[in-house]
Amino acid sequence: MHARDALATAPRTHRAHIDRARIRRRATTTTTTAALKTGRESSAASDSKRARDAMQLTPADVDAAPPIACALSPAITAYVFKTRTRRTFEVEYGAKRGSSENAYVARGASKSCALDCVDSRHADAYGAIAGIGDVDFIACLHAAPRRMDALAAAIAARPAGAECVEVLCSNPGAQVIQQALKANNPLTNENLIAAWKGADGKLRARLRVVKNNEKIDLGDRTLTFTTAPTPRWPDLIFARDDASGMLFTSKFFSAHVASEGDDVSDVGGWEAFGEDWRYFYDCLLAPMAKQVAPVLSRMNSSSETGADGDGDAPASESDAQSPVALKRGGVLGAIGRLFSVGGKAEERVVSATYDGVAAAICPAHGPIIQSSVTEVFREYTMWTEKQIASASNLEIAVIYASAYGNTGAMAQAIARGISKTGIAAEMFNCELATPDEISQLLKRCSGFCLGAPTLGGTLPTPVQTALGAIIKDGDLDKPCGVFGSFGWSGEAVDMMEKRLKDGGFKFAFDPLRCKFKPTAETLQLCEESGTDLAQAVRKLERRRQVLERKSVGKAESAVSDTAAAVGRIVGSLCAVTTKSEDTQSAMLASWVSQASFNPPALTVAVAKERAVESFLMKGGKFNLNVLKEGGEKDVMKALLKPFKPGENRFGDLDVSISENNGCAIVNQSLACIECSVTQRMEAGDHWIVLAEVESGSLLDEVGVTSIHHRKSGASY
Ligand SMILES: Cc1cc2nc3c(=O)[nH]c(=O)nc-3n(C[C@H](O)[C@H](O)[C@H](O)COP(=O)(O)O)c2cc1C
Repeated sequence: MHARDALATAPRTHRAHIDRARIRRRATTTTTTAALKTGRESSAASDSKRARDAMQLTPADVDAAPPIACALSPAITAYVFKTRTRRTFEVEYGAKRGSSENAYVARGASKSCALDCVDSRHADAYGAIAGIGDVDFIACLHAAPRRMDALAAAIAARPAGAECVEVLCSNPGAQVIQQALKANNPLTNENLIAAWKGADGKLRARLRVVKNNEKIDLGDRTLTFTTAPTPRWPDLIFARDDASGMLFTSKFFSAHVASEGDDVSDVGGWEAFGEDWRYFYDCLLAPMAKQVAPVLSRMNSSSETGADGDGDAPASESDAQSPVALKRGGVLGAIGRLFSVGGKAEERVVSATYDGVAAAICPAHGPIIQSSVTEVFREYTMWTEKQIASASNLEIAVIYASAYGNTGAMAQAIARGISKTGIAAEMFNCELATPDEISQLLKRCSGFCLGAPTLGGTLPTPVQTALGAIIKDGDLDKPCGVFGSFGWSGEAVDMMEKRLKDGGFKFAFDPLRCKFKPTAETLQLCEESGTDLAQAVRKLERRRQVLERKSVGKAESAVSDTAAAVGRIVGSLCAVTTKSEDTQSAMLASWVSQASFNPPALTVAVAKERAVESFLMKGGKFNLNVLKEGGEKDVMKALLKPFKPGENRFGDLDVSISENNGCAIVNQSLACIECSVTQRMEAGDHWIVLAEVESGSLLDEVGVTSIHHRKSGASY
C-alpha cells in the first residue's frame, strides 16, 4: 500500500453536525509567525474555513473539569488542569504519562496579571476561574492558535463595562493573535473575535507587545519579561516575578506527566520526574539546541545580576547561529513547600531568597519545579552542551513550514528519530529563514528533509524559496526526504518529491503524507523515517572514512586489546517483543542480565537509535523471549532483516500474543518472561532499561540458552 493511503484518515464530515459554539475550537498544535502565504488567494477564505472545520474539537475532546488551584505564595496562584490519559499524539506525549496544562495568576497590591493560557479543551474551565475576568493583564507566554479559546474565555469573563485588559505577548505572538482576530484566514478564531469586542461594540482587550526586559508594575511587585524564541515557538516569552524570584517559562522545563492526587509540584524530585523532563527535552528542545543555549545562558546571567536582570542583549533569531558558551547554574537557596489553596497541606510559601536561576520554575506543562530547580537547570545546560557538541560531528536539517502545526508535529517526530541515533537534528522553520541561511544550513548538514502543508493546491511561498535554495546549492550526495500534511488534494509533497528527484537528490525514506493531524501511527512512521535518514547519513560517513583511510594508505585497524577483552563478555540471545498503541515491535538482544531477586528484575541495553526504544519508556511492557541453542537462526534472520517503517516486524515467525500485556510470544523460544519497565539509565549510545518481571513461562524444558559469543566488544 502506498504510504499516502496508509496515512490518510477518513474525512471528518461527521463533525459538520456538531453545532455547539463552545466547542468550535481548533486542535492546532504550533504557532507560526503569520498565516502562510498560499499560491491561490482567490480560494483562501473557503480553503481556510474547510481546514478549520476539519480541525475542530469534538465534544469528547472538551474537558470541563475545574483546575487544581494552588497558592505558590500569597500573591501567586497556579491553576493546573491535569489529564491522566493520553489524548494527544504528538511525539512528546510518547511516554504516555498524561500531562497538565498550567496557568498562573500574579496579584500585586494594585494590579494583577494572568500568565500563560491553556489548551482549547480547557477553555471553558479556564474562563470560569474565580477572578480571571478581573485581571489587568493577560500574558500570553506562548501565543499558540490552540490557546486562543482560553484567551477568549478569560476576556469574555470580564464584567460589563470593565476596563480593557492588556494582552501581553511578543512580536511573533502578536501576529498570531492578530491573525486569530481577522476573519476568513487560516488562524481565524471566532470565539476571540466575539470576546475582543463586546456586544456594545466597545473593545474589551488591547494587544501590547512586550520588549525584552520590559517590566510590568503590579504595585508591590514587578514582572520582567524576556523573549525566548526558538524555531518551533518563535513567540515564546518568559516572565519573572521579581519579588518572589519565580520564573514562568512556558514550554521550557515542561514535562508531559500528571502525578497522582492534587500535588502540582515536583514532589519526589529528580527521581520522580527526571525522565519526564528529559523526554520532553529530547523530543522538543534537543533539535533546537542552538537556540535553547542562549535562552539558558540569559537565565543564568539574569540570576547573577540579580532578579532584575537588566543589560542582557536582546534575544534574536540570530542567536541560533552563534556558538554559545553556557555558564553553570548556581546553588539552590532555601525554598519552602507549595501549599494547596484548599488548605490540605502545610501552609508555607516559596521563599523570596534564592541563589540559583530561580526560586521556582513554573512551566506550561507538568510539575512546578521547586525542589529540583538547580538539577533541572544543570541537566538542561548539560544536554544542550552535549547536543551542540555532537552537532559539530554530524547534523541533519529538518526544514519545514506549518500553518496549523500538523507538518510541524511531523517535523518534530522526524527530528526525534534523527537525534535518537546520536546525530544532531536541526529544526529550521523556513518562514523565519532567508535563502542564504538555508544554503549555510545545507552546507554544514550531512542530510536534510523538507516538509510543507498543501495550501491553495501548492507549496507555501517560504518552502518554494527554500526548495529553490536547495536545488541551487544542495549537495546531491546528501540523503534527503520529504513530508507534509494536507487536507484534500495534497500536491505539496508530490511537488517537493518531483523537484528533488528531477534535481538528482537521493531519498532515504518514502515521502510521508498525512491527512490533517498526524495520528500516533503516523508519528511513529515519521520517527522511524528520521532514524532511516540518520542511518543513511551514518553509512555515507563510514564509507567516506574508509576511503580517506585508504587514500592515506592506512589499513583497517585490527580489533584492539580493549575491544577484544570486552568482547569476552557473553549474554543470552533473546528476542525483546513489545507493543505501543496498536503497533508491535521487536529487537534481537544479548546485552541482557538478571538484576534483582526480589522483586525479580532484569536489565536490557537498547541502542538509542532502535525504533523499539520509544516503546520501552517507564511503565512500558515487553516480553523477553530467551532463545534456544540450535533454534535461534530463524528468529535472528527474521529480526535482523531490514524492515520498512510500519512493516510487520515478525515476518514468518510463529508468534502468539500474550493475554496479559499484548506483546508477542515467540513460540520457538526456550522461555518467555513478561516484564514492565521501571527505570532507564543513560549509558553512552544505549539506554539501560530496568524492568520488573511480572510473570514467566518455560516453553521448552530440555533446551539450553543460546549464548552470543563475540570477537570484539566494539559491535554486537
Ligand atoms: C488557506 C488554506 C488552503 C488550503 N488548501 C489546500 C489544498 O489546496 N489542498 C489540500 O489538500 N489541503 C489544503 N489545505 C488544508 C491543509 O493542507 C491542512 O489543513 C494541513 O493539515 C495543514 O498543515 P499544517 O498544520 O502543517 O499547516 C488548505 C488549508 C488552508 C488553511
